[in-house]
This record gives sequence, structure tokens and C-alpha cells, in this order.
Amino acid sequence: MSVRRDTAMKLADYQPPAYQISELYLEFELDDHRTRVTAISQVQRQTSQDAPLYLNGEALELGGVWVAGQPYQPEMAEGGIILQDLPASFELKIETIIDPANNSSLEGLYKSAGAFCTQCEAEGFRKITYFPDRPDVMTRYRVRIVADKQAYPYLLSNGNLLDQGDLDGGRHWALWEDPFAKPSYLFALVAGDFDLLSDSFTTRSGRDVTLQLYVDKGNAYRGQHALDSLKKAMAWDEQKYGLEYDLDVYMIVAVDFFNMGAMENKGLNLFNSKYVLADPASATDDDYFNIESVIAHEYFHNWTGNRVTCRDWFQLSLKEGLTVFRDQQFSADMGSPAIVRLKQVRVMREHQFAEDAGPMSHPIRPEEVMEMNNFYSVTVYDKGAEVIRMLHTLLGEAGFRQGMDLYFKRHDGQAVTCDDFVQAMQDANDVDLSAFRRWYSQSGTPQLTVGTTFEPQTGRFSLSLTQLTAATADQHEKHPLHMPVAVEILDGANNSVQKHTLSVTQEKQQFDFGPFDNEPVTAILAGFSAPVRVKQIQSDAQKQQIILHAQDPFLRWDAAQSLISQYLHEMAGSGQTSVPDVLIELFDSMLRRVDQDPALFAEMLELPSFETLAQQNSPIRVDGLLDARDCLKRKLARTLTDQWQATADRISTGAYQYTQQQAAQRRLRGVCLAYLALSNAPGVESHLHQLYLQSDNMTDTLAVLKACQGSELALFDRLMEDFEAKWRHDSLVMDKWFALHAGKERNDCLSKLQILMAHAMYSINNPNRVRSVVGTFAFYNPRGFHAIDGSGYKFLTDYLLQTDPINPQVASRLITPMLAFGQLDESRQDLIRHQFLRLLDSPQLSRDLYEKVRKSLR
Ligand code: ARG
Ligand code: ZN
Repeated sequence: MSVRRDTAMKLADYQPPAYQISELYLEFELDDHRTRVTAISQVQRQTSQDAPLYLNGEALELGGVWVAGQPYQPEMAEGGIILQDLPASFELKIETIIDPANNSSLEGLYKSAGAFCTQCEAEGFRKITYFPDRPDVMTRYRVRIVADKQAYPYLLSNGNLLDQGDLDGGRHWALWEDPFAKPSYLFALVAGDFDLLSDSFTTRSGRDVTLQLYVDKGNAYRGQHALDSLKKAMAWDEQKYGLEYDLDVYMIVAVDFFNMGAMENKGLNLFNSKYVLADPASATDDDYFNIESVIAHEYFHNWTGNRVTCRDWFQLSLKEGLTVFRDQQFSADMGSPAIVRLKQVRVMREHQFAEDAGPMSHPIRPEEVMEMNNFYSVTVYDKGAEVIRMLHTLLGEAGFRQGMDLYFKRHDGQAVTCDDFVQAMQDANDVDLSAFRRWYSQSGTPQLTVGTTFEPQTGRFSLSLTQLTAATADQHEKHPLHMPVAVEILDGANNSVQKHTLSVTQEKQQFDFGPFDNEPVTAILAGFSAPVRVKQIQSDAQKQQIILHAQDPFLRWDAAQSLISQYLHEMAGSGQTSVPDVLIELFDSMLRRVDQDPALFAEMLELPSFETLAQQNSPIRVDGLLDARDCLKRKLARTLTDQWQATADRISTGAYQYTQQQAAQRRLRGVCLAYLALSNAPGVESHLHQLYLQSDNMTDTLAVLKACQGSELALFDRLMEDFEAKWRHDSLVMDKWFALHAGKERNDCLSKLQILMAHAMYSINNPNRVRSVVGTFAFYNPRGFHAIDGSGYKFLTDYLLQTDPINPQVASRLITPMLAFGQLDESRQDLIRHQFLRLLDSPQLSRDLYEKVRKSLR
């Protein structure tokens, strides 16, 4: 194995750059295979001594280097070039030639369908030219683009368009200037032919901003929701944080080939088209929600990310954790706070807890990185957002805002650290956050054990909280953390509720309440106030009291989930197939109350996912849990058939509109239909078929398909054929079809996957397709993926070997479900280890996969 793959960067080794580049003029002569890039930098030495200048560069053909106008021979080095004996300040000119059409990594400059586009975060700019590709080098850019006019009528880059004109040979050019200094990761270029939707927004100080949305030809009618979302986000950031947009134009371009969701390049966001395009016929309520939230996320980055950026990539959570928190606040304000919170808790419990329990465990500010792309993780993003949320809880809304104001006042225009952020919060509020800072350096999910005592004589009720973080793959020693623990104390006598937010700092702490006449019930972690697991022994009756009487919706949902999970684990352990009455009664009583809060009850009626259950016990009883879950679903379906039917029938939404009320109704009906499909009720198949035919929107259509997918109804295949005939030319909609097939339990799962991958719409080069087929199978088809003969693991590994040379970032995401091997039973562990060895044997394995496999086998 090569030396290079093994080198890790360490936070502790950070050194400020020896040279800054104040200005960069970039010229692109676009060509599929030989794009010529000219880069002219104004370079200034920062150190007194005669330091070398190191420039990153990858996959570049070097045309020439000139220092102060004189030809210069750089020293070729690992991943770049080195220049020596330089003046204190000079002009540096570099010419490179790149091959965008063969750049399948979708990093740097590449072609998506017919358009040129870029993705530079984190370290993609070095695939465009030799440059100090690190976020603490901040530069003002001027960019000239030259391309064929007919094929590429739109030539875009960051900032403002200064000038444009025609050239001979059918070519034209455009010159852009971004007045804000920025790191190279925020550079963007787009050239292509699009439909353009325009709108405008007037900021509260009166600046007129032109909004432009560029989409594939023929897709303009699917762009309005994205534009509306953008305007909402702009208004919200002004009102909530006093933050205004700072350029005259804000551009969003939707492309089909994209590794991630979207990218916040200054003034020119690039988006996966999946997070832009929506109309009722082709997009679901979830799509509408996601578009609104991703559009907002990228917009919010303009302040938390661009105006104030990261000093180095170890600080990624500085911008991502904070911006995810901000987009969650925004989504909550736009719709239903409770539902937004439950979504987020699921992400934490299904994915982040799993990451922390596996070989890739890292703190939200990692200390050691082999491949930076591997750290765009649920830990950095989502646990990072939970850490910001805890600050918000501890400081309160007003205190948090003061901290944000101070942060911008101090650091606008700078590249800073997570410590700088916490310091601003601390100084603005005059509090001591030194213990809180440990969240940035300590990995792992703390376990909070809850004990209670009640003294009948005095009525005193005490709560004892013990926190413990188990050792993780990356870190042995753990310390207590500072966390807000929100509790509700339910007094059964008069159904009154007391709410407290406890500031927990010690390993073990006791809190006293009372007096009470009778022993109250405590519900812990209202709003999921800290990213921890709670261990608390409670009776069924106590849980039921929380389900009925707690005020916080998360607590009610969580108590129901916990009651269900507990029995599912019991059933899984004993192999028992009889369902306890208490569960039937629980569902019966929830179904009777549905109208009180359809959105919340829709969530409560859904069984905990396999992925969540898997995080609650180790080793994971794969077969037992899947069987128990199926058994319970069927039993509920068959015992409560009339209620499911009646609840579904009561719902009528009228013409489709994306509103919270309608979305809640549709979601609830979808849940009911999934049970009905398992019910054996006479006529259920024709009923579902009717609903499919009547549906005028993708949400309801997909609800029927999902219900059939989870059942054995033959209708599934018939409807899927019909769906395919209708949508076969629409790749985004076909992703839903691919995912339904790939997620379906069936005996011939793997041959089905092969058929899907041979489909005319499938392409191994398109990340959305790969995720919808291979990703859905590996993440959400546990029976197929964890097949005890190891065929699922082998299938995934074969695919990784195929896709890794094409696009290592995509391959590296897909391996995630195998990283949980440590929690599986011995035989599955062995099967997966065998696949890891196969990967390691491959001499060309990317650094991305290598890092994960290496850590897994450690
Ligand atoms: N900054 C982008 C966002 O979260 C994500 C960019 C991810 N890039 C990557 N190479 N992993 O909004
Ligand atoms: Zn982001």
C-alpha cells in the first residue's frame, strides 16, 4: 500500500500560511478535454524568513509558471509544487490544463450532462490550478470565462458580472468580480444552457437583490417553490438574526450530477437538482420540506460560513453545525416545530449514534483526518447542530443572539475556529463555558442514567442523574460534559406538569423537587435537550402517563417509542410471537385520539425503525428484531383493521397544496394504508388501487406504493409497472421507483438489483441513481443486506470496487452500513471483515475508502 494514503493531517500541527494571496485573476478557456486555466495571483509573504511557497495541485497538466514575469521551474512535490527564493511580494502566473469531461469524481471542474460546473469544497480547487487550497488564505477573485456561445449561453461565476462580449469562432466571454475576499473552496463557475427563473428581494435596508434560478431546459415550472423558499429564508435571517444579503445578485444553479445536497459558493450556489425541482405531480411533501430547508441552509451560509469562515477543515462544524442549527430553527418557524424536531432526533439516533459507536467515531471537531471528505459527517453536521442547540438552551434566545452578534462583530471577514465562536458566546453572556467546550473535543454518545426516590413523609422527590461516556474507537478517556437536561414532572393527582431545565455538569448529580402528595412521574430530555441516550426504568403505566399527559410532543412520542421498543427487544430475545395486550391497547388509544394532533399521532403510530432499534442493544439481533417488528405490524394491522380504515377514510385534503395541515393529513393516511395493506381485509387491494388511480400528487401516489411495498400484495408489481411507464423519462422521479424496488424485501433481491442497474435510466456515474439503488439496499433493506450467507455484504463490496475508481466520495458514503459490523453477531462480523480484507487488497483503493477500512480493521 502506498505511503500517501496513510498520512493523516493533525489539528495540533496547524501552522498559519507563509503566504497570502490578496488577488487572483482566473481565466478559463473551456473545452471538454483541454480546458486552459490561467491564474495570476498577487502574493505576499507573511513570515519574516525566506519560507517556501507550497501550492496544492492534483490531476493537473502544468503549462508554465512565471514569478514576477520571469519563467520559473517549481519543484514537483507530493500533491503539489514548491517555489523557493521568492520576493516578499510578487505576481505569480500559472497555466494549467485540465480534463473536465473525464472528471468523474465530481470535484473540481467537471461536466454535468451538457454543462460545466465546479465543486471545490473541501479540497477541489487544487484540481483546477496550483494554489494554496486552504480556507485561511482569503482572496478577491476576478474570473474571465471563454466558451462556445451556442452550447454555453450562460457563463457564471461568483459576485457581479462586470462585462461580456463576443469573440470569433462562435465563442463569447464574461468577466466576473467578487468584491468579498474568500477561500478557494467558495469559488464557483458554471457554463451551460438553462431555463432561467428570475425574481427579486428588497433587503430591509433597501438593497434590491436579483434572484436567479437556473434549471435544465423544460424544468422552469418546477422552480417556484425553491425561489419562494429563498425569499422566506432571506426575510427570516433579517428578522431572526439581523443578517442581510450583501451582493446585488443571488444565483442558484441546479445540476443532475452532484455528490452532496448543495454548495454555498459566494453568490452562486450549486444544487443537486433533487433539492430544487418540485411540482405536486412529481415531488412529495418531504421533497417540498427538504428543498425549503436546503435552500435556506445554503443561504444562511452566506453569514455562517462565507462572511465568517473556517481557519482549517478541523473547524468544519463551526460553519456546518451552526448552519444546520439555523436551518432547523427556520424549518420549525415555517411549519411544525415538533415534527421538525422528531425528524432530527431520528437522524441522531439512527445515524449519528451509529457513527459514534463505530470505527469512524470522531468529535464534532476532529483531531486527525486522512481524507477530509470523510468528515462531512452526521457527527460534524448533526451532532454539531445539537451542540449549538445546547448553547441556545443554556443561554436562552436573547443570550444566544447577543453571542451571535458579538461573533459577527469580532470575526466578519475572518477565518476562525470553534473556540472563537464559543468565546464570543461566553463573552457576550458573561458565563463560564470552559466545561461546555469539551463537546468539541470528546467523541461518543453519553449515557444518562436516571434514578428517582420519593419520601412519602416529607413529599420530597429526588432525581439523580449519572452521565457516562463509554470509550470510543478514537478515544479512551472520557470526562463529564456540561449539558442542559429538560425535564417534566407529572403529578398524577391533578395532572399538573412542572418543567425544569437542569444544568448538568458533574458525573453524578441530584436534584430535589416537591413536596408532592404522591410519587410523580419524570419525563426526561424534553425536546431532546442533549444528544444522549437515556437509561431509565419505568413501568408501562408511567410511560402511558407520559404519552397522555406530558406537554412536550417529543416526550410523548419518545415514551410511546420506548414502550414499543422495549417489547420488541423482548420478543426478539425470546423468539415469542405473541404480542402483549398493552401494545394493542396503546395503538387503540392513540387511534382514538388522532384528531387532537394528526401530525404528532402519525409519527407516534409508526413503529421505531430497524435502524433505531439496532442502536439500542448490542449485539444487534438482526433476525429477531426484524421478525418481531413484522409480527407486531401484522398483529396491529389485523386487530385494528377497522380503526385504520376509518382513520384513513376520514381524511380528505382537497386539491394538493404544500401546507402543514395537508401534509400531516397525508402522512397520517400513509401510515394507516401501510397497516391496511397488511390487514387481510377483503377488498384492500382494490381499495389501494383506487387510491392510486385517484391520486393527483406524488405524496399520495407514493403512500400507496410504499404500503404495497411493505406487504405481499401482488398489486405492487402492477403499480410499479404503471409508474415506470409514466415516469421513465424523469430521472428524479425514477429515483423513487428505484428506491422502492431496492428497499423491497424479496428472496431474489440481488438479481433484482442487477436488473435495476441495467435499466436505461441507471448510471453508475450519477450519485443520485447509485444512492437510490445501492444506497437504499445497503441502508434500508436490512433483511437483504444482512442476509446470513453474506451475499448482501459481498454485493455491496463488489459495487464499491467498481465505483470507487469513478467517484470515491460516493463509494465512501455507501460503505457506512458495513461500519456497524462491531455491533453485529460473530458470524456477520466475520463476513464483513472478509469483505474489508478484499477492499484492502485492492491496490487502487481511494484514500476515502482506505481510511474507513483501515480504521475498521484496527
Ligand atoms: N458545504 C456544503 C453544505 O453543507 C457541503 C459541501 C460538501 N462537500 C464535500 N466534498 N463533502 O452545505
Ligand atoms: Zn452546509
